[in-house]
Amino acid sequence: MLLDPSMSNTSTKPIGVFDSGLGGLTVLKELVALMPNENFIYLGDVARLPYGTKSSTVVTRYASRCVDYLVGRDVKLVVIACNTATATALPELRRERAFPIHGVIEPGVSAALAHTRKKKVLVLATPSTVKSDAYPKEFRRQDPSVSVEQLACPLLVPLAEEGWFDHEVTVSVMREYMARARDPEFDTVVLGCTHYPLLLPSLSRALGPGIRLVHGGANLAAQVKIGLQASHSLRSSSQPGSIDLVATDVISSTVPLVQSLFGPHCNFSLVDL
Ligand code: DGL
Repeated sequence: MLLDPSMSNTSTKPIGVFDSGLGGLTVLKELVALMPNENFIYLGDVARLPYGTKSSTVVTRYASRCVDYLVGRDVKLVVIACNTATATALPELRRERAFPIHGVIEPGVSAALAHTRKKKVLVLATPSTVKSDAYPKEFRRQDPSVSVEQLACPLLVPLAEEGWFDHEVTVSVMREYMARARDPEFDTVVLGCTHYPLLLPSLSRALGPGIRLVHGGANLAAQVKIGLQASHSLRSSSQPGSIDLVATDVISSTVPLVQSLFGPHCNFSLVDL
């Protein structure tokens, strides 16, 4: 159970979301689409990006600071939008805190299971997520009959940061990675990193037709909403909620992009964690 029963009068509190950077905005987008009246605080730990090449000890330390910051802002729950932080730190973060924390891996696996017909799935993720084995473990927990292969794709995050969402270079990098797959018979690919949905046009071209590309964002948003409804903690206002975007380093160049995604109700600030 991810929601604390003592949350019943916390409906006006914001939802806290964090990622190592701004890739988690792909998850925030799903949350806002499903719960437009909620207030959100999004923390992008851009000063420490990337998490995906760092050890689990270091990522857990960074993720703890992010969770503690959001809890200190009096959020009603925390969503870890970052796959790497979910993979390496979520169990420990939950063990140490009696506070509802959602991660992206369990909903990502559910999304893949809903689509795969051949029961063969490929997971694309950062080196740290692959090393943690969190995706194969979660697949075994949800459906042990599914065959899962993982590919670490460290070059995809910088390509997304560069904005090469639909670009020949991204297509060829992805083809190069695909050549490393041991079993090419998969029919479903999990985008196991927050940045990868941004690269969808290139990844679809590289993977070709007939392959489903999924990520956990929509399932995660549905899971959060169901939990909030069950504990009567959804914000009841019919007014659109606000979005506070907090970052650990300057993100001024991305402010117009963020406002085009989420509208003018976005406030920006810096925090030193
Ligand atoms: N947010 C990370 C993830 O979803 C990707 C970026 C990084 O390496 O920090 O795994």
